[in-house]
Amino acid sequence: SWTPSAFVETTVNELKAKLKNDKVVLGLSGGVDSSVAAMLLHKAIGKNLYCIFVNNGLLRKDEFENVLHQYKDMGLNVKGVDASARFLGALAGLSDPELKRKAIGNAFIEVFDDEAHQIQDVSWLAQGTIYPDVIESVSVNGPSVTIKSHHNVGGLPDFMKLKIVEPLRMLFKDEVRRVGAELGISQDILGRHPFPGPGLAIRILGDITPEKVRILQEVDAIFINNLKKWNLYEKVWQAGAILLPVDSVGVMGDERTYEKVVALRAVESTDGMTADWVNLPYEFLQETSNYIINRVKGVNRVVYDISSKPPATIEWE
Ligand code: XMP
Repeated sequence: SWTPSAFVETTVNELKAKLKNDKVVLGLSGGVDSSVAAMLLHKAIGKNLYCIFVNNGLLRKDEFENVLHQYKDMGLNVKGVDASARFLGALAGLSDPELKRKAIGNAFIEVFDDEAHQIQDVSWLAQGTIYPDVIESVSVNGPSVTIKSHHNVGGLPDFMKLKIVEPLRMLFKDEVRRVGAELGISQDILGRHPFPGPGLAIRILGDITPEKVRILQEVDAIFINNLKKWNLYEKVWQAGAILLPVDSVGVMGDERTYEKVVALRAVESTDGMTADWVNLPYEFLQETSNYIINRVKGVNRVVYDISSKPPATIEWE
């Protein structure tokens, strides 16, 4: 029967035989799949695995620094690339969700291609593709990066012409987590909630500004940290905050003020295809809401999303 230790042993041997002394590039996202794929390859080929972790400026608060630090502690040969300004520049003025996704996908391709070019003689692209991604054209994490037509005019970006290696192709998510544990990856990474590739860009409804990103990062961090403090984080499949494009009236002394509204979303699910909102304790919601409104400048109202999927979706756009 299948065991994580046998899988690791066999796969590491296969990877050694296949990759020999070749160089491999891999994009880390901070998520479970790319992290486990990286550790497997690292075990097989060590420093010949070149990992790239891109900060798109739309990650959770302090996530880039924290996760990069963890990757380095794991011994990975990883380069952190802060491309926040480039992504935020590409997003400026865009409100349409699909245009935002495209701008982010294209910026990622450009940044990754630039970085891959800096690795001399790289011949393989590794990906954290898992079995459900293979059998369905669209993964539970939504469509992966779409390549805009102009990229196809001169052919694919160079990194997409590399040979592909996908060591997790035959695994389901729970098996990936078990392999990760076998490889000594921390629970902090293995137990992480799914997070969309476009990140906070699709949780800021409408156009994106650095100030909105700052507000949402603060709100999201309070929500997630409080879920952990109340031991609710692991009972929830996915959670996050959404910044609504609405100015809501509030009162401060004798003055009426207009500030932002945030929605909190927490769902239970097994695969993201269907989801139920989580019945979080009122005391938790009360504490979290007070904390957000008292601490985050620019927010005066917090609401909780009690919609299930279908017909609602997990994300708001
Ligand atoms: P929905 O909102 O469709 O989301 O119920 C289902 C799951 O997919 C994630 N999601 C995305 N992931 N790129 C991604 O990588 C995307 O554009 C995207 N849109 C949604 C969502 O967070 C949930 O886990």
